[in-house]
Amino acid sequence: MDAEKIVLEAKDLHKSFPAAQGRDELHVLQGMDLSISEGSVTSIIGSSGSGKSTLLHILGGLDRPDSGDIYWDNENITDYSADDMAEFRNSYIGFVFQFHHLLPEFSALENIAMPSLIAGKSSKEAFERANDLLKLFGIENRKEHRPTQLSGGEQQRVSMARALMNEPRIILADEPTGNLDQSNTDIILDQLFQLRELTGVSVLLITHEKEIASRSDRILELKNGTLHSL
Ligand SMILES: Nc1ncnc2c1ncn2[C@@H]1O[C@H](COP(=O)(O)OP(=O)(O)O)[C@@H](O)[C@H]1O
Ligand SMILES: [Mg+2]
Repeated sequence: MDAEKIVLEAKDLHKSFPAAQGRDELHVLQGMDLSISEGSVTSIIGSSGSGKSTLLHILGGLDRPDSGDIYWDNENITDYSADDMAEFRNSYIGFVFQFHHLLPEFSALENIAMPSLIAGKSSKEAFERANDLLKLFGIENRKEHRPTQLSGGEQQRVSMARALMNEPRIILADEPTGNLDQSNTDIILDQLFQLRELTGVSVLLITHEKEIASRSDRILELKNGTLHSL
């Protein structure tokens, strides 16, 4: 693995939100730079409202910056059409949100397989890999259950497995263990770090938890619209 390979880069990102009544415009990102190398785990911390989720959405192509550039695998994706972005994102990025965003009418197994089915893989291939990921996260006995029949920790393990379905180059995780107890937090973190060893996937995660941050290669704080090394 080439330690210097950059999987995700942001240059001079700006993002503002329009003023609410009687308030100033909110300048959330103010010339932010970031570079993520292959196989690294980076934690971002910052106070509530500092712009962490906004940043993750912009890096993952779910929202657009007002100015600045974003590179995935050295390719400038900033001006990609929504369709091109969605296609590239589905193969390149695995998202894990704080609230799992699982589809309520589908089973755990189907939720995990979904990104591959959307990408046009055969259902045999998709369900085989989804089964492997269920086992990896220790939830194979929950595969026919729907999200509402799963505990919070199980839901988040399903959503982590789903994020890995298309073998992404980078995982973007927004407080993935924010609502979990210690044992579920440990399972998710151990799997994340193990996967990094196994596959070389890069991880960028937002967290409030000191323990997670201390296991990362690098901790950055989002403050006043830019990132600072800690
Ligand atoms: N779509 C939006 N429209 C207006 N304001 C927004 C929008 N999204 C986020 N904000 C505001 O931008 C700031 C940063 O939000 P967010 O990125 O969610 O912060 P964090 O994740 O660090 O708590 C907050 O003050 C929030 O209210
Ligand atoms: Mg947030």
